[in-house]
Amino acid sequence: MTTATWSLRRLHALDDAQIDGLADVLIDCVEGGASVSFMHPLTRERAAAFWRRVGKGVVAGERALMIAEDARGVCGTVQLVLDQPENQPHRAELSKMLVHRRARRRGLGAALMRAAEAAARDCGKTLLVLDTANDEAERLYERLGWTRVGVIPDYALLPHGGLCGTTVYYRNLAS
Ligand SMILES: CC(C)(COP(=O)(O)OP(=O)(O)OC[C@H]1O[C@@H](n2cnc3c(N)ncnc32)[C@H](O)[C@@H]1OP(=O)(O)O)[C@@H](O)C(=O)NCCC(=O)NCCS
Repeated sequence: MTTATWSLRRLHALDDAQIDGLADVLIDCVEGGASVSFMHPLTRERAAAFWRRVGKGVVAGERALMIAEDARGVCGTVQLVLDQPENQPHRAELSKMLVHRRARRRGLGAALMRAAEAAARDCGKTLLVLDTANDEAERLYERLGWTRVGVIPDYALLPHGGLCGTTVYYRNLAS
């Protein structure tokens, strides 16, 4: 087993260095074939523009953002989309769960999930939903008690091309 060498925190605003570090993580995941909304090659400009939009949502209280940092900078992140329709105030969507390839398979994914669930509770959320096209992420979510709903076939393009399905999960924090 490898010892954890990262620290985790929730951000309430994003500075330029954090945007740069988050862009690195997103680019690395897309390069590695993760289906996370972007096609390869993802330029630094597009990645930074994405995180700047996320930063605005964080400041507005529409999103909760967690980051993990190691000696080289940002190495993982996850967010909750808190801003939901008025008839679903108890629900949030878990989004952009990303661990840089240099930091994988050391428990950081699990730590980010636990941090996201704790943040959701702090925000008064009791129902979380997510979808994923990644087998490793599926194992992680099931290990942590998420319930698998089913698969939507041909949902998105993989970053290097070709369609993939997505698997929908939920987690009831009240039970
Ligand atoms: C899915 C993802 C977030 C997992 O992150 P991670 O930090 O590697 O997750 P963990 O370390 O908690 O768990 C991964 C594996 O490492 C194992 N592991 C955890 N700690 C370990 C340790 N100290 N030593 C060895 N193995 C360890 C876990 O048991 C798990 O094994 P399994 O895949 O055989 O079930 C990461 O692979 C990723 O970012 N992928 C690309 C982006 C993506 O697709 N995100 C999901 C979008 S919904």
